[in-house]
Amino acid sequence: MSNEFVARSLDEIRFWARIMKEHSLFLKLGFRAEDTQLIQEANQFYRLFESIENKANAYTVDTDPQTIRQFNEEVRQAATMIWAFKRKVLGLILRCELPGANNFPLLVDHVSREANYFRNRLGELNAGRLEPLPDAIIDENVFFLRIMADHAKFIGHLLDPSERKLVEQANHFSEEFDKLLFQARDLESMRPQSQTVPLLDQFLDQNRVSVKSLRDFKKTARDLIDACKIKSIIHPLLADHVFREAERFLFIIDMFENSLTGKPMASRQSLLFD
Ligand SMILES: [Fe+2]
Ligand SMILES: [Fe+2]
Repeated sequence: MSNEFVARSLDEIRFWARIMKEHSLFLKLGFRAEDTQLIQEANQFYRLFESIENKANAYTVDTDPQTIRQFNEEVRQAATMIWAFKRKVLGLILRCELPGANNFPLLVDHVSREANYFRNRLGELNAGRLEPLPDAIIDENVFFLRIMADHAKFIGHLLDPSERKLVEQANHFSEEFDKLLFQARDLESMRPQSQTVPLLDQFLDQNRVSVKSLRDFKKTARDLIDACKIKSIIHPLLADHVFREAERFLFIIDMFENSLTGKPMASRQSLLFD
């Protein structure tokens, strides 16, 4: 049981610490040359999450659970700090105090939601109270479907307008995920009556199909950007970043599917440490 706690904690931290580190870089790149204070703060967060990432990679499933419990708390505080920084930046942008800076308000809000998700996960792990499965299925899908819908919008807006076909595809994904999000919220408002195995199973299946095709679109975009085959202002690392977040969502959907249908979770440990 404590091995499971250590494994889950390290898995969350390894994934999200890298994500937080990259957010610091993206925010920095969007600031103006004169925003030296904000650039410095972003650099500090980059180093902080890089050191957390290194520490998480050095620990193993055999690390003492008490050590991991302390580490989780330390990381939770770091996630809270970067969340506050992102909200501060959002405020500056929305009050038009950073004219000409290049971070969309929705992107800053988006990365703050991811930080908030991360710190909540760590809080739950340490408190030892995970949500009941039917609630977790709906809540995680509501969270990630919105994240996916945002990604499609960012890609659509950061591609060069002359990439008409790709922009059209990105817009299509944006609409598709907005619809899926509305469906998820409908299921949410109908709970607990909506939490039957057949309905949740179908919900996961339907979401999986769309996430897979968005994941493939992101992979194609990433490869095209890497090869400098398309015109955009998308940083290659951002393309890879949103691809990894789609992979994460797919992994979570599969984990839920296995728990829901009672399949043994033997493969989970190995998946965590691939
Ligand atoms: Fe992200
Ligand atoms: Fe994201």
